[in-house]
Amino acid sequence: MPEAQPSGFDSAYHAPVMWREVCEIFSSSSGVVVDGTLGGGGHTAALLSSNQALAVIAVDRDPVAIEFAGGRLAEFGERVELRRASFHALDEVLADQEVRHWMADRPLVGGLFDLGVSSRQLDDPTRGFSFREAGPLDMRMDPASGLNLADYLRQVDEVVLARAIAENGEPRFARTLARRIKQAMGAGRITTTSDLRDVVAEVVGRAYAGRRIDPATKVFQALRIEVNQEMEALEQLLEKIPAVFGPPARVCVISYHSGEDQRVKRAFAAMTDGGCRCPKDLPCVCGAQVVARRLGGMHRPREDEVRANPRARSAKLRAVEMIEPVAVAELRGL
Ligand SMILES: C[S@@+](CC[C@H](N)C(=O)[O-])C[C@H]1O[C@@H](n2cnc3c(N)ncnc32)[C@H](O)[C@@H]1O
Repeated sequence: MPEAQPSGFDSAYHAPVMWREVCEIFSSSSGVVVDGTLGGGGHTAALLSSNQALAVIAVDRDPVAIEFAGGRLAEFGERVELRRASFHALDEVLADQEVRHWMADRPLVGGLFDLGVSSRQLDDPTRGFSFREAGPLDMRMDPASGLNLADYLRQVDEVVLARAIAENGEPRFARTLARRIKQAMGAGRITTTSDLRDVVAEVVGRAYAGRRIDPATKVFQALRIEVNQEMEALEQLLEKIPAVFGPPARVCVISYHSGEDQRVKRAFAAMTDGGCRCPKDLPCVCGAQVVARRLGGMHRPREDEVRANPRARSAKLRAVEMIEPVAVAELRGL
């Protein structure tokens, strides 16, 4: 595993999480890796400097990330191709004429998806992700598409909002939070992210007394996931992996939230065991196929990484290697 920080390492925008483990996964690959979540370009820079046989198609839905990382990655010349897109449309990105021309005879050997938001997005108050300073009610990774947070909160049904908060952040107080947020929005009491934080703190503040986490953290996370339709994008991506990546490509996902990790775990399990539902002691008759093998189990960041970058603490990395499809019936010797 590489120890020295790679060329172009710069964590001012975002410190790449588990970059050593990511480089290790692609250390013997030769061809093109899709970095579907470019962010500040930390993982892409690490991959390109640790393995000269790699080139990267770097994708992000955030134009700020594309611009920043484009400058930072210029030293790698034509080994990087930037695309502004959502990773759920990865098949369309790869079908693009220019991308196909750029890939020429380089095979697609991998995909990296480092989910969620970057430190820059969280820390820039003008983007509306932060509750530490008053910012606009926005939270969109791609400011040109979808509803911003203000419109979402105005339009969403209270029950749907409660479910979103429960599933992605704060189950205990979800119904009260949804009611109070909708009331406060209706009364014009929430016009900035700090107004929203205050309403959340009125409901959950006492339960968080003495804890280091801000009472608004989980609700902001849940709203961000909804505004950006993150789970929908992830599900679409996971569904496309077997069609997009052929053997021996390796696919690596880093998640930060149990909703994300459960989806990744389920999708990877379906690829590595074929998703066969026939009883284990009987022949498989459902036609299930195994299309990948696991690369180790679930990996967590090292202690020294979490000390240096506390935002890495919830990271979970899972990786698979695509294989030639094998029928489950054949694996069971039938
Ligand atoms: C955790 S950061 C990635 C950081 C990056 N690995 C680095 O080393 O700097 C996540 C990035 O993924 C982007 N992102 C999230 N969901 C996306 C999607 N569906 N499609 C494309 N980009 C997405 C965000 O805009 C953000 O820049």
